[in-house]
Amino acid sequence: MKRKVLSMVLATSMVAAALAGCGGGSEEAAAPAAEAPAAEAEAPAAEAEAPAADAEAEAPAADAAAAPTGNKVGVAMPTKDLQRWNQDGSNMQAELEAAGYEVDLQYASNDVATQVSQIENMINGGCSVLVIASIDGESLTTVLEGAKTAGIPVIAYDRLIKNTDAISYYATFDNYKVGQTQGQYIVDALDLDNAEGPFNMEITAGSPDDNNATFFYNGAMDVLQPYIDAGKIVIPSGQVDFATVGTPAWATETAQSRMENILSSNYADGTKLDICLCSNDSTALGVENALAANYTGDYPIVTGQDCDIANVKNMIDGKQSMSVFKDTRTLASQVVKMVGQILKGETVEVNDTETYDNGTGVIPSYLCEPVFADANNYKELLIDSGYYTEADLQ
Ligand code: GAL
Repeated sequence: MKRKVLSMVLATSMVAAALAGCGGGSEEAAAPAAEAPAAEAEAPAAEAEAPAADAEAEAPAADAAAAPTGNKVGVAMPTKDLQRWNQDGSNMQAELEAAGYEVDLQYASNDVATQVSQIENMINGGCSVLVIASIDGESLTTVLEGAKTAGIPVIAYDRLIKNTDAISYYATFDNYKVGQTQGQYIVDALDLDNAEGPFNMEITAGSPDDNNATFFYNGAMDVLQPYIDAGKIVIPSGQVDFATVGTPAWATETAQSRMENILSSNYADGTKLDICLCSNDSTALGVENALAANYTGDYPIVTGQDCDIANVKNMIDGKQSMSVFKDTRTLASQVVKMVGQILKGETVEVNDTETYDNGTGVIPSYLCEPVFADANNYKELLIDSGYYTEADLQ
C-alpha cells in the first residue's frame, strides 16, 4: 500500500478537535466514550461529520481501489507482563469487534521470534490490516516484507517499527512530551530556577530496543541539561548516557538491581538522593523497591509514566511523585478509526508528518496527548473517567 497522506488535519481547530478526542485533558479523559468508534463504523454516513471527512473529497479513487476489502484485523502486542499492554489489547479487541471486525489478538511474551511468527500467521491467515506494538522495533523488517507483498497495510501501535517501508501509519502518544513533562516536573518541584542546589539525581531509562525510550529520555534531558550544566543537578554515579542508563525490556527487576548497586556505591555514606528520573512506571517500581530496601534518607522525587495500578498506589502512599497518564482507550479508539479509514479507502487522519522517521522516511503519525498525573489529580483522571475503580487502587 502506498504510504501517502492525502490530506492533513492541521488546521488549528481541527487539531484541537483531534486532541480533544485523544485524551487532551482531564475533561476529555473523563468522557472517552464520546469518541466511541463503534457508532462510526456502523453508521458510515455519520462519518461525513468527522473532522477528517472534509478531506475525503480529495481522496483519489486509486486509494480506495487499493484498499483491502477483508474484515479481519491482526493485533500483535508485546507482552502481558506489563499492565498497559493488557489494556491496549483488550481495548483494541473490544472496539474492533464492536465496529464489526474479526480480531486476531496475540501476545508474544516479549519474545521477538514469537512475535515474528504471530505476524506471519496473521499475514497468511487473511488479515486485512495489521496493528503491531513491537518488542524490538528493528526486528520486523523481514516479516513485514510479506505484509507488503500481500498488500496488507500496517499500523505501528505506540512504538515505531523501524527500517521497513511496509509501515503505513503510526499511532502513539507524544513521546517527547512525556519526557518533557517528567523533566519539567523536577524543575518545578525543586524550583531549580531559584534554588542553588546541587541536587543529586539518578537516571533510569527505558529499553534500548524501543524507539520510544530515547524520546522519553531526550524529552526529559533536554529540559534538565541546562541545570546539569549549571551545576544545580549532579549525578553522583556518573551514569548519564542513554546506553548506560537503559533498562532492557523495561524490566522492574533490572531497574531495581541497578538502583541497588547505585545506592550501595554512592549513597551508603548518607549522601542524599534528591531525584530519580525514571522513564516509566515499571522502572520506577524497581527504583522504589530499591529505595525501600536500601535508602533511609529523605525520600527523593521519583517520576514515572503509564499510571499503572501499583504506581498509582505508590503515588497515593508518597512513594512516587508523578506519572504520565496515557489513556489506552483513546489510543485504541484512534487506531480503530484509522483501521476503518484504511479499509474504507478513506483519508487516514494524522496530525504529525515530521517527527517519526523510521529509516525509510517519515511515517504519517497520529500523536495522542499525554497528561500529567499525581496524587492530587488521579481521582479526576483515573477514577472519574472510569479507567480504574476505587477498589482497584485499594
Ligand atoms: C513504551 C510505552 C510506555 C511503557 C513502556 C514499557 O513503549 O510507550 O507506555 O509502557 O513501553 O512497556
